Amino acid sequence: MAQKIARARWFFDRTSWVPTVEELNFALSSIHPEERDRVMKYVFYKDAIATLSGRLMIRKFLAEATGLPWADIAVGRDENEKPIFPSDISLQFNVSHQGKYTIFAGESSGAKVGVDIMEIKYTGGKPLKEFFRLMSRQFSKQEWEKIHENSLPTRQERTFYRLWSLKESYIKATGVGMKVPLKDIDFRINSPLKSVAEFVEDTELFLEGEKQENWKFQEVLIDENYGACVAIHCQSEELKNYPCLPFCEVMAQDLLKFCTTALPADEKAAEDLFKKYLESEDRK
Ligand SMILES: CC(C)(COP(=O)(O)OP(=O)(O)OC[C@H]1O[C@@H](n2cnc3c(N)ncnc32)[C@H](O)[C@@H]1OP(=O)(O)O)[C@@H](O)C(=O)NCCC(=O)NCCS
Repeated sequence: MAQKIARARWFFDRTSWVPTVEELNFALSSIHPEERDRVMKYVFYKDAIATLSGRLMIRKFLAEATGLPWADIAVGRDENEKPIFPSDISLQFNVSHQGKYTIFAGESSGAKVGVDIMEIKYTGGKPLKEFFRLMSRQFSKQEWEKIHENSLPTRQERTFYRLWSLKESYIKATGVGMKVPLKDIDFRINSPLKSVAEFVEDTELFLEGEKQENWKFQEVLIDENYGACVAIHCQSEELKNYPCLPFCEVMAQDLLKFCTTALPADEKAAEDLFKKYLESEDRK
C-alpha cells in the first residue's frame, strides 16, 4: 500500500453547516455500520454531528494519506476505544470535540498523537472556589500554584482548563484513558497562551518528578474561548524540530466531497438526524 507523507490539523465548526436530509444521508452512508450506529445513539444533534464529523475527518485523512478508495478504509478501535487504523503502515491520528468544534490531528511520521479541545472558561453552576475544591485531587501542588498565580478568577479558570486540556491530550496520545491518576500527569506551564493561531510549545511534562524529553505539547487558541492542545510523542531528537502545523478550517463540503457511499443508504436514519437538527439550538 502506498503511503504519502501526511500531516493534518483541522477544525470543523458545526454551526457553519446548514445540512439537508440528502447531505446527512450521504454522510451517514459513507461511514461503516458500527460508526453510524454510534452517531445515531445520540439524542442531540450537536453530539451526533460531533461524532459524525470526527469520523469523516478520520476517513478523509486516511483516504488522502493512503490513496485507498473510501470504501476500503477500515477504522478500528483498540482495547481502550481509541480509533486506530489497523494496517502495517503507521498513521496516527486523534479527534476531540467540544462546543461547536470538532478538531483533528493526524501524522504519518510514526509519532503518537493526542488532541484535545476545551472551552477555557468555567461554565458550571457552583462557585469557582467550590469547583476547585472538588477538583483538588486531579492536579499537582505545582499546578495549583500555577492556577493561583494570578488572583483574577478569569485567569485562574483559563490556567485550570489549559492544564486540563494538556492532561487530556496526553491521555489521548497514550490511549490509556483514565488508568493513570491525573495528578501524576504533572505539567509546568512556562508561557502564557498567545493570540489566536499562535502556538506555545514550551510546556513541560513531569512524571514521577522526571521531565519527559520524548513529549511535546503544541497549544493554540482556535478562537478567543477555545484552546486546542496537540500532544506528540517520539524520539527527543526528532522533537527538537517538530514543526507546528496551523489548524485549518474544514467545511462540511470538504468532508462530503471525499465521501463515497460505503453502505446502503438509510433514509430513516438521515430523516431522524435531520429532525434532531430542526429541534436543535443551531436551527433556532
Ligand atoms: C478517552 C477520553 C480521554 C476522551 O476524552 P473526552 O474529553 O471525553 O472527549 P474528546 O472529545 O476529547 O475525545 C473524544 C474522542 O476521542 C477518541 N477516543 C475515544 N477513546 C479514546 C482513547 N482511549 N484514547 C484516545 N482517544 C480516544 C474518539 O475519537 C472520541 O470521539 P468519538 O466518541 O466521537 O468517537 C475520555 O474518555 C477520558 O478518559 N477522559 C478523561 C476524563 C477526565 O476526567 N478528565 C479530566 C482531566 S483533568
